Order: sequence, then C-alpha cells, then structure tokens
Amino acid sequence: MTEPTAVSLLDGLATTRAIRRYTDDPVPDADLASILWHAGRAPSGSNRQPFRFLVLRNGERAAAAKRLLGDAFRAGWSAKRDADGYRPSRFADSMQRYVDRFEQTPVVILVCLVRYRNPSPYEGASVYPACQNLLLAARALGYGGALTMWHLGVEAELRELLGIPEEAALSACITLGVPEGGHGPVQRKPLDEVVFDDAWGRRADWL
Ligand SMILES: Cc1cc2nc3c(=O)[nH]c(=O)nc-3n(C[C@H](O)[C@H](O)[C@H](O)COP(=O)(O)O)c2cc1C
Repeated sequence: MTEPTAVSLLDGLATTRAIRRYTDDPVPDADLASILWHAGRAPSGSNRQPFRFLVLRNGERAAAAKRLLGDAFRAGWSAKRDADGYRPSRFADSMQRYVDRFEQTPVVILVCLVRYRNPSPYEGASVYPACQNLLLAARALGYGGALTMWHLGVEAELRELLGIPEEAALSACITLGVPEGGHGPVQRKPLDEVVFDDAWGRRADWL
C-alpha cells in the first residue's frame, strides 16, 4: 500500500494531472476498494447512480481485454500524433511509452453508464463526476491515473468478451497505477479567459 499523501482538497484539485507512467507495483485490493468507494460518492441525476466500474487487472479475461485495449490505444495515439502533428517531445515519448506498455498497466477500469432512457447529450453528466472522484481518490492514496477514450475503437469486442449489456454505455477507460513521476501543477488557461461576469464575453474584474 502506498502512504496516503496529505494533500488538501484544493491542492488535489489544482495539481491532479493525467499520469501515464506507472511502476510495475500493483494497487492492493484495499486501496482499490477505497478508490472505488470514493468514486461512487459522486453526484448523479436524481441520485440514480447509473455508473458501473468494470475493473481489469490480472484475470484471464482482463488480460485478453488489455490486449484488445493495447491495440486500440496504440492505434488511437498513432492517429492523434499524425493528425495533430506532434513533434518529438517529452509528452510524445510519454504517450508512446503509455500505449506501448498498455498491457502492463496495473489497473484498467471501464467506467460504464447504465442507461435508463434514450441516449442524450447530457447523460455523461451522471458518470463523469464519478470519474473525477475516482482520479482524486487515487491521488489521495498515492496513485495516479488517466481518463481516456481510446477504448471506443474496440467497444464491440470488449462488449462481447466482458459480457457488457447493450444498455450500458462505455463512458470512459481509466488507467491507474503507482506514478513514476510526480503530479501537478497543471497547465490551464488563465481564469479570465474562461470566466465571464454578467454577460457572455464580459470580463470579471474581481478575478
Ligand atoms: C473527456 C476526456 C477524454 C480524454 N481522452 C484521452 C485519451 O483518449 N487518451 C489520453 O491519453 N488522455 C485522454 N484524456 C486526458 C487529457 O489528455 C488530459 O486530461 C489533458 O490533456 C490535460 O492534461 P493534464 O491532466 O495532465 O493536465 C482525456 C481527458 C478527458 C477529460
């Protein structure tokens, strides 16, 4: 078990970044259970709690799913690298290493949403708060993770392999482990670019 890092809630919010480099250390059951418990404390519409967490670690099916996902992640990064024109950089190296070692990722969690009505553009609002809770809880316990979407390239294969029913949407694929590097600070736009006061585009001079 890693030692819980005494990080304040606000420090955690300010510095929790996507961690894609993991040591080979496992995440012990008790820590993983705590991370998922805290994820499940997230809010959801009418408190329906439609989120489900499908954990992939070392089982036979998990290994097969990680192989499928590894191929999808490599294809996802390769397409993004070409489309966005990434030059060689620390970031590009770390992405390449992330996808190349995907099968060794200690914990992969498919975060699903059980639909109770027709798909709507807002349904993610009942699952992504749980994803962020999950990442923050992982941070608090000394782990790091990344929320990703590259599982979508093999969604049909994952559904079949893992028995995921049609009514469950595959909302995110979160990877977790003991970080090799450190967390934040994160790079974000200045506040006055994203906050308006009183009308769209009106600068908030109290910032
Ligand atoms: C909706 C969403 C989709 C994302 N998809 C991916 C992804 O497919 N692959 C990946 O490596 N990271 C993915 N990320 C992580 C972002 O790239 C990352 O949070 C962002 O670049 C900011 O970096 P930082 O968190 O390290 O500051 C995603 C994040 C979100 C919120």
